[in-house]
Amino acid sequence: MRDPSVLVITGTRKGIGRHLAEHYCGIGDVVVGCSREASEWGHPSYLHHCLDVREEADVKKMFLDVARRFGRLDGLINNAGVASMNHSLLTPLSTARNLVETNFLGTFLFCREAAKLMKRKSLGRIVNFASVATKLNLEGEAIYASTKAAVESLTRILARELAPYGITVNAVAPTPVQTDLIRAVPQEKIDALIARQAIRRFAEFRDVVNVVAAENLQVTEQSRVQCVPEQQETGLVT
Ligand SMILES: NC(=O)c1ccc[n+]([C@@H]2O[C@H](COP(=O)([O-])OP(=O)(O)OC[C@H]3O[C@@H](n4cnc5c(N)ncnc54)[C@H](OP(=O)(O)O)[C@@H]3O)[C@@H](O)[C@H]2O)c1
Repeated sequence: MRDPSVLVITGTRKGIGRHLAEHYCGIGDVVVGCSREASEWGHPSYLHHCLDVREEADVKKMFLDVARRFGRLDGLINNAGVASMNHSLLTPLSTARNLVETNFLGTFLFCREAAKLMKRKSLGRIVNFASVATKLNLEGEAIYASTKAAVESLTRILARELAPYGITVNAVAPTPVQTDLIRAVPQEKIDALIARQAIRRFAEFRDVVNVVAAENLQVTEQSRVQCVPEQQETGLVT
């Protein structure tokens, strides 16, 4: 039997983040999750922090708690995110700022703090959440898609910066999944988007879990040796 991995997953109250957390708890790992509101579910190997990923002091406190409790961190999934579907001319600065701070700066903060902890063991996996909205240049998603483009860039550069410490950094860019995030998107827009996909249906939670699981968050010395050169080349899984 393998030792349980210690994973931090952001945005675990609901949606994709909750499914990822339940998946990893279900296969015996320890998950430390977070969201602004209290958790709507529980598991003996799940620990929830109520925090906003935009708040540096609270993020640092969470990692201090992980360090004190477990002394290590094996994986980070930067899933927390917000969206706002609107024409650019109708987008208030406050909305744009919230998207940038949550999707991009939140991801940066968690990568930075996680890497400091992973560095102790020269071992770690980071998976960031991008979106298909970036590649498709979707109208009405200018700010959202831009924040995810920034996440892609951050991922590629961090993959290089953190490789010497045995830490891999990759991103997943899902197609639409039926969650609260896309509830406000008009049905005809969703239909048009799905019509452009090779597989013409919503992605299901298990599709996303399968791609993230391929990143092998259960790190071992062996997988480190195999994965580091590979992520230098790709840095991005879509
Ligand atoms: N659904 C899709 O079609 C789709 C497609 C491509 C990419 N994605 C990406 O997948 C990720 C998850 O999306 P989802 O569809 O699962 O969204 P969701 O159902 O709206 O869930 C978002 C999660 O993030 C948390 N969250 C939001 N802002 C936060 C903040 N400032 N601090 C801490 N936690 C925060 C939310 O909890 P609280 O409200 O309690 O904070 C919630 O648990 C996002 O990064 C999204 O951009 C989604």
